[in-house]
Amino acid sequence: MLEKKNIEELLRKQMTPCYVFDEAELKRRITYLKTMLPDRVSICYAVKANPFIASWAAAQTERVELCSPGEVNICLKAGIAPEKMVVSGVYKTPDYIDWLARTYPEIGRYTVESMEQLAVLFKAGRDTGKRIPVLLRLTSGNQFGMDETELRTVIRDRELYKEIDICGIQYFSGTQKHTARRVNKELAFLQKLCLDLKEKEGFTVREIEYGGGFFVPYFQEDSFDEDTYLQEIAEEMENLCDIADVVLELGRSVAASCGTYITRVVDVKTNKGQKYAIADGGIHQLIYFGQMMAMKKPYVKKWQEAEEQPKEDWTICGSLCTANDILVKQYPLSEVKIGDVLLFARTGAYSMSEGMALFLSRELPAVFALEENGKIKELRRRIAVDELV
Ligand SMILES: Cc1ncc(COP(=O)(O)O)c(C=O)c1O
Repeated sequence: MLEKKNIEELLRKQMTPCYVFDEAELKRRITYLKTMLPDRVSICYAVKANPFIASWAAAQTERVELCSPGEVNICLKAGIAPEKMVVSGVYKTPDYIDWLARTYPEIGRYTVESMEQLAVLFKAGRDTGKRIPVLLRLTSGNQFGMDETELRTVIRDRELYKEIDICGIQYFSGTQKHTARRVNKELAFLQKLCLDLKEKEGFTVREIEYGGGFFVPYFQEDSFDEDTYLQEIAEEMENLCDIADVVLELGRSVAASCGTYITRVVDVKTNKGQKYAIADGGIHQLIYFGQMMAMKKPYVKKWQEAEEQPKEDWTICGSLCTANDILVKQYPLSEVKIGDVLLFARTGAYSMSEGMALFLSRELPAVFALEENGKIKELRRRIAVDELV
């Protein structure tokens, strides 16, 4: 947990806005998920949620899912074992795949997103003389993956593709699934599909890699009983584990809770009766899934807020030149002053990667690790946009 000394250190170095990712919290979170899910289920961390914590997550999970050459390179640099890597992504550049397969023949899995992409992997297998282990990605009704009929054709014709080893199926159907019922329906569908492939094609699906899209309660309005949610999912998952090895791809559910976004108040005013605090951060750096025009209340607190003081409604805005830059609307806080520090919790996933970071040419904020030993370490320095443009 961020302590007084950590925040004081960041403020002394004038580091706001910034992100801090908490190693101990990440470990606690993964341990909790593992405790709640069947022992037979492996976890694959979807690095897109937060590449800065990839090596911590990889140390706690069985796999990492990587959707771009950038993500693969980050993980290679971090020393993550290629065996743990699932190279995914809707388009895999042939040259990059060619290089990767030659340089790292130990890569654990590649996903196949289309017949065209199958040909790329097939060629990599032929050129390297090593069968490429693949998961056929089944579409959930968008541009990702292959249609079920096409996937069945590849399985039926598998003898033609000796250069690839079809280990199983990858399926991801969306994020923020609020009910266990929705997840369980998909698990039941996958079970049925495996049994059908066995019966009709004589093919054993050895592995199902399922992107569960587990829910993260970002807002104080969200009602969510996570223990019950996971217990219900675990029961259905046991059935799938009887048929194939199950790997659960998770991003936000693993990473969200370990992140804090820290921003400082740089101006205050009252306009037409509404109190405004202007922060040095903004919506280009703070993304909560489902946060429309700051309609909901995220878990934000004022650093060293005195509980007993009377509260008033404050609207907290960022420093971007757009009226949309509202972080929270009418949030009860005691008198806000210039220099006050605001801590936005649950910002460990996607906040720093989905934001329109370059909008209005503001700086890219610094990123820090709060290591298990309680020390703060800089992971990325603050970068001025004129260094990039
Ligand atoms: C293929 C795939 N797997 C896993 C995830 C992670 O989803 P979530 O962050 O909801 O757990 C995503 C997110 O977009 C994805 O595209």
